[in-house]
Amino acid sequence: MSIVIRGGTVTNADRQFRADVVIAGEKIHAVAPDAEAPAGARVIDASGAFVIPGGIDPHTHMELPFMGTVASEDFFSGTSAGVAGGTTMIIDFVIPAPQESLLGAYKKWRGWAEKAAADYSFHVAVTWWDDSVKADMGTLTQQHGVNSFKHFMAYKNAIMVDDDVLISSFMRARELGALCTVHAENGELVFRLQQEVFNKGITGPEGHPLSRPPEVEGEAANRAIRIAEVLGVPLYVVHTSCIDAMEAIARARSEGQRVFGEVLAQHLVIDDSVYQNTDWDKAAAHVMSPPFRSKEHQAALWKGLQGGVLHTTATDHCCFCTPQKRAGFGDFRKIPNGTGGIEDRMSVLWHHGVGQGRLTPSEFVAITSTNTAKIFNLHPRKGVIAPGSDADVVIWDPTKTRTISVKTHHQNVDTNIYEGMSVTGNAAVTISRGKVVWENNQLKTEKGAGKYIDRPCFPDYWTAQERRNAATAPTGVKR
Ligand code: URP
Ligand code: ZN
Ligand code: ZN
Repeated sequence: MSIVIRGGTVTNADRQFRADVVIAGEKIHAVAPDAEAPAGARVIDASGAFVIPGGIDPHTHMELPFMGTVASEDFFSGTSAGVAGGTTMIIDFVIPAPQESLLGAYKKWRGWAEKAAADYSFHVAVTWWDDSVKADMGTLTQQHGVNSFKHFMAYKNAIMVDDDVLISSFMRARELGALCTVHAENGELVFRLQQEVFNKGITGPEGHPLSRPPEVEGEAANRAIRIAEVLGVPLYVVHTSCIDAMEAIARARSEGQRVFGEVLAQHLVIDDSVYQNTDWDKAAAHVMSPPFRSKEHQAALWKGLQGGVLHTTATDHCCFCTPQKRAGFGDFRKIPNGTGGIEDRMSVLWHHGVGQGRLTPSEFVAITSTNTAKIFNLHPRKGVIAPGSDADVVIWDPTKTRTISVKTHHQNVDTNIYEGMSVTGNAAVTISRGKVVWENNQLKTEKGAGKYIDRPCFPDYWTAQERRNAATAPTGVKR
């Protein structure tokens, strides 16, 4: 089936121009003014709209087993909700339990993801260390298209790694040419602060941010960055939520270090007052890590995004329904950590970014798809409207308004952290590898239509890093 999108403004990260987009099968065939329509093609009118690459969310947790329960959104419902909001690809996380084989966990997640409605790929978490983990990292990169490994510096007694594991894994990633990513919070400090806060009698969700102040994130981000610097590996810091972590990234970058920062849409627009809500369920619905921060941090995050310290936007989509959150009633430490938002990321960022004059449409594309595609080696297959790229295309209507609500969203969770927020700028039509999956406010997704996308390692990235590292390596004194 061919599709021709006529009359829109094609908007890539580098430029905007008037052109028609011809889709043949799963690929973009042509991008040209007044392009000829193949016989039998469906013509979609995009006048007044932007034609943009489908969003890529580099940080989701569909059906994640976590904190004694399982995230409520599965790969089908989650990717369906994503396309309703203009996101056509996710990079989810395989998170093996300590002592579990990385390869075994990867295969388990691949099985769960077979029902995905849109394309997906996986980061794999290193949660422990021995020779089998080292070997599995090799197999995953060389045979399974995994080029990024995740390290949780928090969640003590669960999936947290210490510096020993972090260093072992970073060194192995250096051998393989893979990208290391970190959840940066000092888990030992969080553990102690949680005890202190709880022992003071603060047992509700308001205790959560008190046990995870910005300094805890800043310390871990800086530690991971400095370890990465010494070892000469690039680093990607997930869900950067505060000035402290952002300053560590900015300083490293100003010294020439290759460090990337991710920010969540929710950290840009929701502040920490949510934890003061006297309705326990509403406050608990916002328990995630790192927690929501004060407005001062939010303003700084926007500047980081505008100024190039932060590169990608994500959701950390990890949904738990109210009965699941209630496992922590009387003890905030047991509230499953996570919030949703895959459906809303693009429109929230357009409304508060482009709509408020903070971002241009091309910058919006850069931070919602292109930068992620480049950092994780998906570009130009994804993240650009160009001949030969996958036909993941969104007709973005800058005038379409929606009030976000749990009553109308497609996410499989009984709360919405953006409840009541009105956003102008929404996906009118979403096309996933050549198939219309969202139009007229209706989903047309199919279980299993999503494909696993390989992400090979980046040899070129690494040659430069390693050359620099070798040049500064200690040489010893000749006597
Ligand atoms: O609270 C969060 N973010 N839950 C998901 C796991 C993680 O830390 O990314
Ligand atoms: Zn995290
Ligand atoms: Zn996460």
